[in-house]
Amino acid sequence: MFITFEGIDGSGKSTQILLLREYLVKNGHKVVTLREPGGTELSEYIRAVLLNKKLEVSEISELLLFQAARADLVKTIVKPSLDQGRIVLSDRYFDSTTAYQGYGRGIDMEIIKKSNQIGSLGVLPDMTFYLKIERNVGIERDKDKDRDRMELSGDDFYDKVIHGYDQLAKNESRFITIDGNKSVKEIHSKVVDEVEKLINK
Ligand code: ADP
Ligand code: TYD
Repeated sequence: MFITFEGIDGSGKSTQILLLREYLVKNGHKVVTLREPGGTELSEYIRAVLLNKKLEVSEISELLLFQAARADLVKTIVKPSLDQGRIVLSDRYFDSTTAYQGYGRGIDMEIIKKSNQIGSLGVLPDMTFYLKIERNVGIERDKDKDRDRMELSGDDFYDKVIHGYDQLAKNESRFITIDGNKSVKEIHSKVVDEVEKLINK
């Protein structure tokens, strides 16, 4: 089973993944947690490039770097883990590419879709949680954090990314939107309800 978490920076994805992991392990499941970009030696190198604010990265290069990192992660970790019957939880997946590079940067959606197929090796999530918050909430929560290259893309960019996630939530049946302003505990409980439904299906 493959479950992904999406939302803008600071929406609470890593917090919820930690809690869900703890819950699932306690209930006897074998769980693998990941974050994108990253998770393999090659993908961590690519992550460092993508987030380095000293670098200028063109839009298509950015897209291809995210996909290169993803392809390595899917091949070496996601696919083998799913084949072994583990539950894979990922902090971001190709919906981030649709929201950030597609809606945010404005790259043609056909290119985004095709590249997502290539980068994911065709592996689709079973369920995707979208933690929805306003741009300013994320900024406020992360105000003491050093901003990376992506986070320096501007307010207008983030508004487009949020619009992108809202469109995905409307169009993709695997999306479950949760109000990210709710307490950590309330969100966790909703996540657990939905995951239990999926497990018992
Ligand atoms: P992300 O992984 O989406 O960037 P994090 O889980 O790292 O987000 O959360 C960003 C910050 O917001 C952290 O300081 C975290 O403790 C805090 N946080 C997470 N969820 C909530 C919530 N529901 N309400 C208030 N603060 C939260
Ligand atoms: P990260 O610090 O992991 O995200 P977060 O702040 O949510 O914890 O940084 C990853 C950044 O890369 C984040 O700004 C989203 C962006 N991103 C894309 O633009 N496209 C993608 O395909 C992925 C996976 C991430």
